[in-house]
Amino acid sequence: MAEYKQILNNYKALPGGLLEAYHAVQGEYNYLPGEAVREAAAVFGVSASQAFGTATFYSYLKIGKRGRYIIRICESAPCHIAGAAEIITVLEKELGIKMGETTADGKFTLEFTECVGQCQATPVITINSVPYTDIKPAQVPEMLAQCR
Ligand code: FES
Repeated sequence: MAEYKQILNNYKALPGGLLEAYHAVQGEYNYLPGEAVREAAAVFGVSASQAFGTATFYSYLKIGKRGRYIIRICESAPCHIAGAAEIITVLEKELGIKMGETTADGKFTLEFTECVGQCQATPVITINSVPYTDIKPAQVPEMLAQCR
């Protein structure tokens, strides 16, 4: 795993480098470590509040630790009607966490998402942004086992 200091420095001289650097750090870590945001302030010569302000303005940037596998459940209407709630129940039970939480071993995070454009085969979940369609509750344990 590349050091976040090195990643930040790679973008230092580029226009819009701060946002690009956040992208790259999140790509490597799956989230933005708080220390990386503080370090970014020093590297890019901005105040800590500006560095955090940029990080929190964009909803796709996540400050704080998240799991290696980010599982998102589509909660838009077609998936909702198709039984997304049952999938959520099984995921929460299997992982022992609630939506929005990360497992203690740092492996899984559960999040909601809006429609991901796969409404032809609902309900839909994504694992690290890869969509899985027409999910049945009985399939969930096996899907998780494949990540473990
Ligand atoms: S509503 Fe869930 S993928 Fe479109």
